Amino acid sequence: MGLRFIFMLTRNDKTVEDAEQHLKTALAAGVHHIGFKDVGLPVARLQKLNEAIKAGGATSYLEVVSLDRDSEVASARAALDIGVDVLLGGTNVDAVLPILAGTPIQYFPFPGRIEGHPSVLAGSIDEIVDSAQALALRDGVDGLDLLAYRSTENVTGLMAAVCAAVDKPVIMAGSIGSRDRIENVRRSGAAGFTIGTAALDGDYPADSPKLETQLRSIQRDVAGVNNHLSPHSPRNLARSFAQFAETWNPKVAGQVNNMQIKLAKFEGAFVWHYHKVEDELFFVHKGQLLMKFRDRDEYVNEGEFIIVPRGVEHCPVALNGVCEVMLIEPATTVNTGNAEDERKVTELSHI
Ligand code: NI
Repeated sequence: MGLRFIFMLTRNDKTVEDAEQHLKTALAAGVHHIGFKDVGLPVARLQKLNEAIKAGGATSYLEVVSLDRDSEVASARAALDIGVDVLLGGTNVDAVLPILAGTPIQYFPFPGRIEGHPSVLAGSIDEIVDSAQALALRDGVDGLDLLAYRSTENVTGLMAAVCAAVDKPVIMAGSIGSRDRIENVRRSGAAGFTIGTAALDGDYPADSPKLETQLRSIQRDVAGVNNHLSPHSPRNLARSFAQFAETWNPKVAGQVNNMQIKLAKFEGAFVWHYHKVEDELFFVHKGQLLMKFRDRDEYVNEGEFIIVPRGVEHCPVALNGVCEVMLIEPATTVNTGNAEDERKVTELSHI
């Protein structure tokens, strides 16, 4: 599983006033993990916000802000009332676990000692690791929320040490505002990380400070770090066919393993041939194709395809003018097969 990016609808430890609007932007950008805090908006609005997160197919997170026991208990109860999927943070595990017992809410408390406001992760790496191990052994603790960048220790070393010491997922919280830091988080073995203020304030490195651009930039970086980057966008067949006029000259439009997607325009009759080892698929995008076999004729209409197995003689004929055909066949396939014909093409261009 890849690194999980949790977008926090929070600034300065508070849920932002225009959270609903930002949520729409995040869902439209395809963000699947969205969090908030139980400070800044009334519970009724947080409930609605949570409903909207879930309706958008995302997982919801509530992060505990205050670390005194009573406020933390109140946050845990709020998590229950609001119906979030995951409760992040907090240190009063003994007080919170009974509240969450029997609920589907996942619980990721803070390891280590948290002090001050804005909070700081105090103590040495060894102390934080000890705390992480003790917490991770508890039933009802599903993972940890490590305030790594709030530590004055070596952050990379701290993250790696905590992740190595526990079998449960670790989320890195706070100030993960650059691709380098995301890369560090992944290398440490963490399950995920949060970004809130940096994206809301437009501080993440991106083409624009607009939230949508910020989120897309983070997602692209996460995909890159996860090795999930895809260079592919949707291809439109009509536009691709409009890019060339030559007939009987297949163009390579893509490759899937060793199979190529070729676009070709047919006009009139081709040459009888077969392919010794390759199967061919002819999908008719526009026009009508007559596929002649030695035993019969087959008419292939727009939106239909026909497969010609290896070894079977065939002769494609475009009826009524030009026929636009998408071919799917091994990259080694030569259009004329075993036949010698002036329309043989061995060097295919790409479009
Ligand atoms: Ni053929």
